[in-house]
Amino acid sequence: MTKRLWFVFATILGCQTGKQRQDLPILPAIDHHTYAHPEEAVITHLDLDLVVDFNKQLLNGTATYRIKTDSAAQFLILDVNGLQIDSVTLIFQESNQPATFILGEPKPYLGAPLTINLDVKHPEKVKIYYKTTPGAQALQWLNPKQTYGKNLPFLFTQGQAVLTRSWIPIQDSPGIRFTYNATLKVPSELMAVMSATNPQKKSADGVYGFTMEQPIPAYLMAMAVGDLSFSPISDRCGVYAEPGMLEAAAFEMAEIEKMVQTTEDLYGPYQWGRYDLIVLPPSFPFGGMENPRLTFATPTIIAGDRSLTSLVAHELAHSWSGNLVTNATWEDFWINEGHTVYLERRIMEALYGKEYADMLALLGYQDLENTIADLGDTSTDTHLKLALTGRDPDDGMNDIAYEKGALLLRSLEEEVGRDRFDRFLKKYFEDFIFKSISTEQWERYVENHLLDSLKIEFNLKNWLYQPGLPTDHAIIRSTKFKEVDVRLREFVRIGRLDRSSTRNWTSHEWIHFIRHLPTDLHASFYEKLDTVFQFSNSGNAEILAAWLELSIKSKYLLDHNKNRLEQFLFEVGRRKFLLPYILHY
Ligand code: BES
Ligand code: ZN
Repeated sequence: MTKRLWFVFATILGCQTGKQRQDLPILPAIDHHTYAHPEEAVITHLDLDLVVDFNKQLLNGTATYRIKTDSAAQFLILDVNGLQIDSVTLIFQESNQPATFILGEPKPYLGAPLTINLDVKHPEKVKIYYKTTPGAQALQWLNPKQTYGKNLPFLFTQGQAVLTRSWIPIQDSPGIRFTYNATLKVPSELMAVMSATNPQKKSADGVYGFTMEQPIPAYLMAMAVGDLSFSPISDRCGVYAEPGMLEAAAFEMAEIEKMVQTTEDLYGPYQWGRYDLIVLPPSFPFGGMENPRLTFATPTIIAGDRSLTSLVAHELAHSWSGNLVTNATWEDFWINEGHTVYLERRIMEALYGKEYADMLALLGYQDLENTIADLGDTSTDTHLKLALTGRDPDDGMNDIAYEKGALLLRSLEEEVGRDRFDRFLKKYFEDFIFKSISTEQWERYVENHLLDSLKIEFNLKNWLYQPGLPTDHAIIRSTKFKEVDVRLREFVRIGRLDRSSTRNWTSHEWIHFIRHLPTDLHASFYEKLDTVFQFSNSGNAEILAAWLELSIKSKYLLDHNKNRLEQFLFEVGRRKFLLPYILHY
């Protein structure tokens, strides 16, 4: 059925009277950010064969799809953004034949539909010969200077949300899953890795083969090519980085295996085989990206003291929330990130205790309050279920999804009790394994599997479809931050903060302290802080960023820290540190 027909069908159903909403079927979610019509022809497997050409800065090769078609289907429609499509072949069991195809008019961020004419006798596979073009948004080609080693070039991809279509012609919707095999040919001094089975050594000829056996959505397609080396951490975990960074990266990530086990204890088996992590050059635009089997990470997680490992817990948690159970459309993005932030904090609590996790939760709550204040507490962009038709999905990727989502889950947990909530979530991951789910389906599932049997009144609709925060949300408290507040008040009053009282502070206490420093203190106060505690030289990017953000607001600090600020902004590509507040992610 076409999208338009679904819409008519939905409208008719919606108009029926006398029926409880409970009884109505929940219709498949419509993804407004794809041109695909999966109900007619959908991809089920991809064979990707690409040459990575660093001289021309392009990828050149083929994408071959196994497809599933409705008997009446005439077309296979793929999403394409700025690709050069050279030809398309239909593959039948005994023979091949050229296909006719049309590349439509491109639109901003959506790109264009590639409509391939399927023969009346449907082909088994469709093969597309193509090249990427220089503006491809998913591809970052780095010259040697932008790497740690300064010697060899580097390439990485970033697919989420709708960028994969700029390096692979594909059905780029989180609701469409496929398995893949890939062959990459790269310069022989470099190694290639993907969101798949990976090599641990360079090959002599620069050719690498990959397999992803579990079905994944297009935004999780990923590749990195560079002067990479590998360090094992356990039988199933390890770290990739440029050789000069490998030791520091391995030290920082030493607890990965323990994290995987902790998450398995809470939410069931890790379903992806290996869990590795790659530390990328500093221009990587995110803290981390949950590419399956291989998390991509910013080098700013290497603080030297494992103080930023909650970021690893976050990306690992996506191996359940997001990669097993995925948002059906980008309007349901909170389903990915809200569950992941909740899981991240549970993992941190299991490993480092409640006080530690409470600090993380309270910093998150502060972010949420700021985001709601920035957007306005009546803004529809503060709904968990977003309205993104006609908009770039990136518009919806802020702390509402992350922190309002996590707070909803924490509030539910407090309402029904932790044991029951843990059992519920484990079952949720089992029931929706390798599926995509809309907010409406999630709502129905929570009612049926959690709330109804307990006869608990919990205003889910308010949380999901109303702005701001429900008044009865869980209250986050941190005893550690209360102590910081005492020190902070004393410092603001008399300029004293001795090392003995701060000796055991984690980076979270420091961030809380810096965030709450007034911006109009006497210059000598800031000077003293920076001399004693060396914030401007902090190896922890979160502390440094908080200090530099304060520097923008405080005249004295700006004069003092201008160079450091400039250097940070030039060097670090992480979106959270570069974009204005509401676009944090
Ligand atoms: N999947 C996101 C990154 C992302 C979000 C990419 C939206 C593209 C569009 C990832 O899991 C993430 O949330 N990263 C955070 C770190 C985390 C600890 C909150 C980041 O990069 O800051
Ligand atoms: Zn995330």
